Amino acid sequence: MDWFAQRFLKSALVCLGLGTMMGVWMAVAPQAIIYRPAHVHLNLLGFVSMVIYGVAYHVIPRFTGHALHNRRMAGVHWWCANVGLVLLTGGFVCAPHQPIASRTLLAVGASLAAGGSMLFIYNIWRTIDGPAAPKKPPRALAVQTT
Ligand code: HEM
Ligand code: HEM
Repeated sequence: MDWFAQRFLKSALVCLGLGTMMGVWMAVAPQAIIYRPAHVHLNLLGFVSMVIYGVAYHVIPRFTGHALHNRRMAGVHWWCANVGLVLLTGGFVCAPHQPIASRTLLAVGASLAAGGSMLFIYNIWRTIDGPAAPKKPPRALAVQTT
């Protein structure tokens, strides 16, 4: 399995652990509900989305029979998704206490996480399409047919 697929799955598991622990905290201490957006994004952007990214990078090339369009882009996506999620979650946690700092964290984290998603969309789209067909017939074939 490629390192980025493996790391997406492991990041997802870490997020599930943190997200559900936050959920338990909110369930037993209702004043912690101010942190609900952090819980939601650890679970949905952290766990659910990252599982989807990891599984997609592994299975879509196998389903389509096409090599992943750009492996380096998938690695960059892993970094964007994880640094973005950490900053976004930090921004949500800070929001009730430090609204100005929170806005900066949210802006940078959101841009990174969303930018990573764009890389994923492009990379998987191009993988589904597969390599471009050659525009001209190979030279030997062109000679044979004339
Ligand atoms: C042990 C696991 C979990 C516990 C104890 C838990 C607990 C909670 C609590 C206490 C709330 C706040 C409810 C309120 O506003 O009154 C909440 C909200 C939420 N949780 Fe969880 N949660 C858990 C796992 C998950 C998972 C795995 C997901 C997603 C994959 C998730 C998604 C959400 C969402 C989307 C909301 C916001 C709902 C809304 O906007 O009203 N939670 N959770
Ligand atoms: C780049 C990625 C994302 C960004 C920047 C983002 C940003 C936000 C922001 C700023 C809010 C409002 C939070 C607040 O009430 O203070 C929000 C709410 C929410 N987002 Fe996202 N989001 C992203 C991805 C996702 C994804 C992938 C899902 C689900 C799969 C999701 C589900 C939700 C839900 C359920 C809420 C309502 C939370 C609540 O009830 O407290 N988000 N998001």
